[in-house]
Amino acid sequence: MRLQATLFLVASCVPSTLAIYADEVGHIDFHHALLGVPSEQSTFFQRPSSSSNAALLYTLSDKSLLGAVNPKDGALLWRQNLSRPAVTPGHDNQGLLRASGGTNAVVSALGDYVSAWSALDGKLIWENWSPGMPVVDLELLELEDASSAPSVTDAIALSGGKAGSVKRLDGSTGKIKWEFHDESGDVPFQVSASSTDVFYISLQPALLKGYKLRVTSLDPLTGRQTSQQVLNSDNDITGPDSVLFVGANTALPIVAWADKSHRTLKINAIGTKQVTAVNIGNTSGADIRSIKLHAPRTLNALPHFLVQYETESGSWAEVYHIDLASSTVSKAYSLPFLQGWSAFSTGTKDANVYFTRVTESETTIVSSASHGVLGRWPQHPPLDRALHAVSEVAMKGDSVALRSAIVLESGDWQLIQNGAVGWTRPEALSKALAANWADVDSQQDLAHQLEVEGHESIIKAYTHRVKRHLKDLEHLPDWLKELPKRVITSILADEVSNLDSYGVSKPVIVATKNGWVYALASGDHGKVSWRVKAAEEDAWNVKSIQIQPGLATVHVDDGSSVTLNVTTGAITQRASATGKSPLSPEDDVSSDVYIVTQEDERILGWSSKDSRVPAWVFQPAPGEKIVRATARPSHDPVASIGKVLGDRSVLYKYLTPNAALVTTVGDNSATFYLIDGVTGRILYTSTHKGVDTAQPIASAMSENWFAYSFYAEGSDPSEAKGYQLVVSEMYESPIPNDRGPLGSAANYSSIADLPLPHVISQAFIIAEPISHMAVTQTRQGITTRQLLVALPESNAIVGIPRPVIDPRRPVGRDPTSTEVEEGLMKYAPVLEFDGRWYLSHARQVAGINTVLSAPTLLESTSLIFGFGNDIFATRATPSQAFDILGKGFSKLQLLLTIVALAIGVAILAPMARKKKIDTLWKARS
Ligand SMILES: *[C@@H]1O[C@H](CO)[C@@H](O)[C@H](O)[C@H]1NC(C)=O
Ligand SMILES: *[C@@H]1O[C@H](CO)[C@@H](O)[C@H](O)[C@H]1NC(C)=O
Ligand SMILES: *[C@@H]1O[C@H](CO)[C@@H](O)[C@H](O)[C@H]1NC(C)=O
Ligand SMILES: *[C@@H]1O[C@H](CO)[C@@H](O)[C@H](O)[C@H]1NC(C)=O
Repeated sequence: MRLQATLFLVASCVPSTLAIYADEVGHIDFHHALLGVPSEQSTFFQRPSSSSNAALLYTLSDKSLLGAVNPKDGALLWRQNLSRPAVTPGHDNQGLLRASGGTNAVVSALGDYVSAWSALDGKLIWENWSPGMPVVDLELLELEDASSAPSVTDAIALSGGKAGSVKRLDGSTGKIKWEFHDESGDVPFQVSASSTDVFYISLQPALLKGYKLRVTSLDPLTGRQTSQQVLNSDNDITGPDSVLFVGANTALPIVAWADKSHRTLKINAIGTKQVTAVNIGNTSGADIRSIKLHAPRTLNALPHFLVQYETESGSWAEVYHIDLASSTVSKAYSLPFLQGWSAFSTGTKDANVYFTRVTESETTIVSSASHGVLGRWPQHPPLDRALHAVSEVAMKGDSVALRSAIVLESGDWQLIQNGAVGWTRPEALSKALAANWADVDSQQDLAHQLEVEGHESIIKAYTHRVKRHLKDLEHLPDWLKELPKRVITSILADEVSNLDSYGVSKPVIVATKNGWVYALASGDHGKVSWRVKAAEEDAWNVKSIQIQPGLATVHVDDGSSVTLNVTTGAITQRASATGKSPLSPEDDVSSDVYIVTQEDERILGWSSKDSRVPAWVFQPAPGEKIVRATARPSHDPVASIGKVLGDRSVLYKYLTPNAALVTTVGDNSATFYLIDGVTGRILYTSTHKGVDTAQPIASAMSENWFAYSFYAEGSDPSEAKGYQLVVSEMYESPIPNDRGPLGSAANYSSIADLPLPHVISQAFIIAEPISHMAVTQTRQGITTRQLLVALPESNAIVGIPRPVIDPRRPVGRDPTSTEVEEGLMKYAPVLEFDGRWYLSHARQVAGINTVLSAPTLLESTSLIFGFGNDIFATRATPSQAFDILGKGFSKLQLLLTIVALAIGVAILAPMARKKKIDTLWKARS
């Protein structure tokens, strides 16, 4: 019996599982799988295969992510990261993406890397490298050749570098079919293809200034040059940016440019000598700021195109037709000048071409053949400013259906379907630089009142309190009225674990690099509740977001700040630049009197008493560079100042609230310095040789321990090669029950006398790099902590339980019985991440470079938020949700049981009493 009881007790102590339950996914966490801002030239609607009816949206973003999105709901179907470490450094990484109707592939180029991907599922079909020769243009070859199977469309790639080179790549293998080298010294510019020719267009420097356009026609089968034209454009063209358009794959491709004063538009049907000049009407009476050309890309579409003219205040457009026989261009009609922004796009249906115009207040569609408006949808409420758009047109009899995907000024991607907003993908969040949980607590007023009471005399405080309670009575009638409803809903709701009032679904405020601030509703799958343009800068170097009740302050590295109301997003205050800014909060070592800043290659400690001269300066050894500084989180409560060992003795933790862990790198070494933030004294140093400093080095600190990771090449064979995770704990003394010099020192003269910590470290080999580290935080710090690590290779966030990486794990022997009691396991050099530690579950959280953690009102629960590219938020319960009722708990059932018991008691009690009396009588008789 006793054995059984013990077993039961033991069994109930073992955590059933640490993993996230499948039914919690999407409930306690949310994930925005982002692509980045879709680029104008490489975004389109396309059917994923010739047999499918519905088109998908494809894009290659500014983050070099290639992805397919379902236009119905905006869900990401697949994505691929095209960035390769091999990408030629120093070029602008402008990727290209092409697809052609009737094939099952999309072809992309980035740097010197060309690749083809299955349009349906994003699987790699082939790849091709041309080292040192970045691809400057890419087209698919649509030959009107019936013999070539429709599923393979060869690609034509133009590589730049020292000399231009045009290649035809096999559509199914990526192998080079032919290559044409241009040794003339021209600037390789574009390729284009008609049904009969491949054209290579280069910029030939003219004698004085400007460039002539040289068009070389190539035989698509052999790649041999068939003819050449040089167009006299040197008065107008000063560089690649002056050319407005090189027409891709229409029946008759064109090249278009304008003169410098924007008075005439010049158009040449590629391959011919003739240049048509058309006058640009001065419709608006204002200077034209930009000219954009929109033309269909498909081979069999009508040779019509639209030119968009934009001025400071608005824009208009003109539609032109090309005569195929004479290769001349004529104006067909104009679309009127409208104030505000307009985003034009092209859609095709069979051979017909349609032009769509999205403005703030309406969407309209016209046929390229005539100016009659086929469809007009007013927009309520007005749309946010769009930069560019792509459209898909569907015709059923006389009715038109239209879908437009617009890229907003913020970078977000929005679908407008027949004038209604379908979905918005918050792609701007891929530029997140800082985040924090907002404090919308309604209790703030009470907190303030209590503070007032705390500072007054007893009598005053007492009257204040009585007044406050009388005031509270105002709410009593409402509260009583609500009471029955609250009781009933609380019983009937099957969700007992609605923890919103415990601070687990606080909104998150995110600031992005392009000057926007977002609020995400944690309780509503991370929906954007508001977004605000807070700064005009393109590179807004946000350092941190600080939270006050109801307000959030975004701090920028130049010392300026913006304060917003977290409920509405209204900007309440702006502070201008001061030039000096403390390290961001996670790097921030601020005690009451000291602030630590990083400046050039130094770390400075400032006293708040004297802000002119730094109190101390830390400068790494010559040849070393500071790459990172971390400190204990500002909220890092210590539940116990010592560690109780198996034999009931205590190891005292070395706790200093002001320590900072500074990482420096040398040629192939990394050094970690633990610095006291008050005195600048180095408490501990650890140097690792043979470190690959190009790989991520991450570090984190909490309580009396710190951890860091790096990649060691292992300079000599005895050393381990691979990713290492090193964990160190600091104690006051190596001997249990001893406080070292601290214990006996009753009278400390100055903090400078602090003894150095006794540090115990252990290193573990891990399978992959860690891009960022953080530590879970709970309200009182009683709950076991987890080391949160972001894994960029497996796109995951993992919470490693602290006991697993305890540096006191016995090495080379089994733990003794006291060590077992302490929970220590035998040390194993290789640390494998348990599947149950994956906080991101099966989700692919890509590009995470910062993980934040915050406490909730529940001691068991810690909030986690990761950003960088994707946005991911979840809750962690490192020691189980010991203070939360499980989902399976039913209040109704409990109540029914109590009622049933009460009824049972009521019925049985008289019976029992009767029986007792009867027995008494029987005994008597
Ligand atoms: C259009 O007219 C305005 C005012 O008359 C003038 O300032 C501007 O330069 C003109 N633009 C062009 C392209 O002719
Ligand atoms: C924020 O805005 C809301 C709504 O306008 C207002 O009720 C609240 O007081 C504001 N909060 C602060 C801190 O200004
Ligand atoms: C405490 O201070 C006194 C006088 O300053 C000194 O004599 C004594 O040694 C100090 N005690 C310790 C434990 O340092
Ligand atoms: C894509 O790959 C590059 C280079 O490997 C990396 O720096 C970047 O973070 C990756 N992006 C995402 C979103 O994973």
